[in-house]
Amino acid sequence: MDPVRIDVATPSRSYAVTIRDGSLDHVRRLLDEAKAPARRFVVSSPIVWRFHGHQIARALSNPEPPILVGDGERNKHLATVSRIYDALIKANAERDTTLITFGGGVIGDMAGFAAATYLRGISLVHVPTTLLAQVDAAIGGKVGVNHPLGKNLIGSFYQPHAVIVDPLVLATLPRREFRAGLYEVIKYGMTSSAPLFDRIATERKAIFERSPGVLTPIIAESCRIKAAVVAADEREAGPRRVLNFGHTAGHALEAVTKYRRYRHGEAVAYGMLVVAALARARGALADRDRQALADLIASLGPLPPVADVSGGQIIEAMKHDKKMVAGRLHVVLPTAVGATTIVDDVSEKEMRTALKAVGFKN
Ligand SMILES: NC(=O)c1ccc[n+]([C@@H]2O[C@H](COP(=O)([O-])OP(=O)(O)OC[C@H]3O[C@@H](n4cnc5c(N)ncnc54)[C@H](O)[C@@H]3O)[C@@H](O)[C@H]2O)c1
Ligand SMILES: [Zn+2]
Repeated sequence: MDPVRIDVATPSRSYAVTIRDGSLDHVRRLLDEAKAPARRFVVSSPIVWRFHGHQIARALSNPEPPILVGDGERNKHLATVSRIYDALIKANAERDTTLITFGGGVIGDMAGFAAATYLRGISLVHVPTTLLAQVDAAIGGKVGVNHPLGKNLIGSFYQPHAVIVDPLVLATLPRREFRAGLYEVIKYGMTSSAPLFDRIATERKAIFERSPGVLTPIIAESCRIKAAVVAADEREAGPRRVLNFGHTAGHALEAVTKYRRYRHGEAVAYGMLVVAALARARGALADRDRQALADLIASLGPLPPVADVSGGQIIEAMKHDKKMVAGRLHVVLPTAVGATTIVDDVSEKEMRTALKAVGFKN
């Protein structure tokens, strides 16, 4: 199959996202085409490197040893970024260096931040290896780390020179991580593309089998949607907010459960159900469309339960997150499959009712 190429045109830099089964084998040519400087370091995690390191090392014919750091949310802090700086300094890396991130969103965000700040910025290329990173984190230029007092509090905008997506690396991704990424794909369908939404439903079996050829169009459509939004709004002042669909309640759910119980995508799945219930109650969304979303989410398998999480706690977390101003909440509401509207007048009572409808404790 031909590679899919999506151009991301932002004010600070334009770059291509290349999506193709087996693109990992062509990584060197793609880097050359992107004019990525010739001294190339790969930052990855021991897990990802064990599965796929030999393939990228062979494709790069790279003399530099990989820089391996822990991934997962608990390693996403400045101390890990420091270890990346240490490795670069010890190797005498200069401005003519390319940093290739090879891992999930945590590696991409951390190594991206290292690239943005080392010598005031060196070239960055993302080779994402989780579905979430392929459809979301690798595009748009947000890089950074967590602080003990909050998620992603330290960071910057730093666009890569290229993004190279090989859906075949997802073969080794644990099923739960794979599903977590799929909820973000449902988000793109629900906000922006009814055909994408329908495709997930009709091709669900082949998607879960991660059959060659099946994932490329789904990832490509997701990337197209994100690329368009990012191009229109690099720094998330306006239109990019639509990508926060399902994220208001989702972030609150992650925060009240200390980021331990749910994968980010799972919390977003609940967040989407909550805003769909809210939109339905307001008469902004047909019940048929609310049900289609609920059915599609349910068809991917059970979510970790929320019956013991109180709706009141979720609302408190939203207030803390400054999402709620003077008792009113800004929310992206679905109006149909593939369409949304942004409202700023959601009351606490409406939110409480919607949380209850989705199964949260009173
Ligand atoms: N920059 C952005 O715009 C943006 C957008 C969304 C999310 N994020 C960030 O992304 C992070 C979440 O990313 P994630 O879900 O990819 O998590 P992650 O990077 O922690 O990866 C999840 C797990 O999958 C493993 N893994 C990765 N690739 C694998 C593969 N091919 N085979 C087997 N195992 C593999 C990792 O070792 C890890 O244990 C969060 O920190 C979030 O803040 C950033
Ligand atoms: Zn998200």
